[in-house]
Amino acid sequence: MTLMNTGKPKRPIIHPLMVRITHWINALAILCMVTSGWAIYNASPIFDFRFAKYLTLGGWLGGALAWHFAALWVLVINGLIYVLYGMLSGHFRHDFLPLSIRAIWRDFVAALTFKLKHRLGVYNAVQKLLYIVVILFGVGVVISGLAIWKPVQFQFVTGLLGGYDFARIVHFAMMAGIVGFVAVHLVLVALVPSTLPPMITGRAPAHDPHSQDPEGAPI
Ligand code: HEM
Repeated sequence: MTLMNTGKPKRPIIHPLMVRITHWINALAILCMVTSGWAIYNASPIFDFRFAKYLTLGGWLGGALAWHFAALWVLVINGLIYVLYGMLSGHFRHDFLPLSIRAIWRDFVAALTFKLKHRLGVYNAVQKLLYIVVILFGVGVVISGLAIWKPVQFQFVTGLLGGYDFARIVHFAMMAGIVGFVAVHLVLVALVPSTLPPMITGRAPAHDPHSQDPEGAPI
């Protein structure tokens, strides 16, 4: 096949392939974990409410547990790959840092007053904070999950989390934090829809003023 030079400049990659693959696998795993988790919760609620059945996955307790433990491996292995890649490639250092309370406050106020400028491939301080917090919630949900899945084998962890009953509440709180993040995340994507195609293709859109800016490419 002969490749013709169309004269169009190549748009830079603003989301590395590894970040995109792990992001979308993670989104699917989280969906399965949360909805099957809600079905498991419904079988023995810790609070005064149950989740609507149509929001749950698995049909019955046995089915929900099967989904939960299958998706767990996808979440953990995929999460480890993402975190290792983020640390070893410099992605976390380059794209999530530096971060200061002053910058978070500045960008938070700018966002509330609709003055926050979005540069594709560059995360603002509030975004950086949210991404770091949701990664910590992910670690917390897995650790508290281990504590209630194998409370005998991981009794040290269960003890650290205040015992089986309190570890269940911690697990629920981590899930609620992740669901809260996803809700805010999806609203932000809906408000700035131009962020979505680059998270699929990796490339900045042709019209993006920063597409020719090598500083905008995080790899
Ligand atoms: C259908 C659901 C989702 C959509 C449409 C979506 C969309 C996106 C988009 C467009 C970005 C890039 C934002 C930008 O360039 O400004 C992004 C980044 C990110 N999303 Fe999502 N997302 C989804 C689900 C999730 C879930 C479930 C999580 C975690 C619980 C998550 C965590 C993240 C993180 C941590 C990043 C930063 C990735 C990095 O640069 O390392 N997303 N998402």
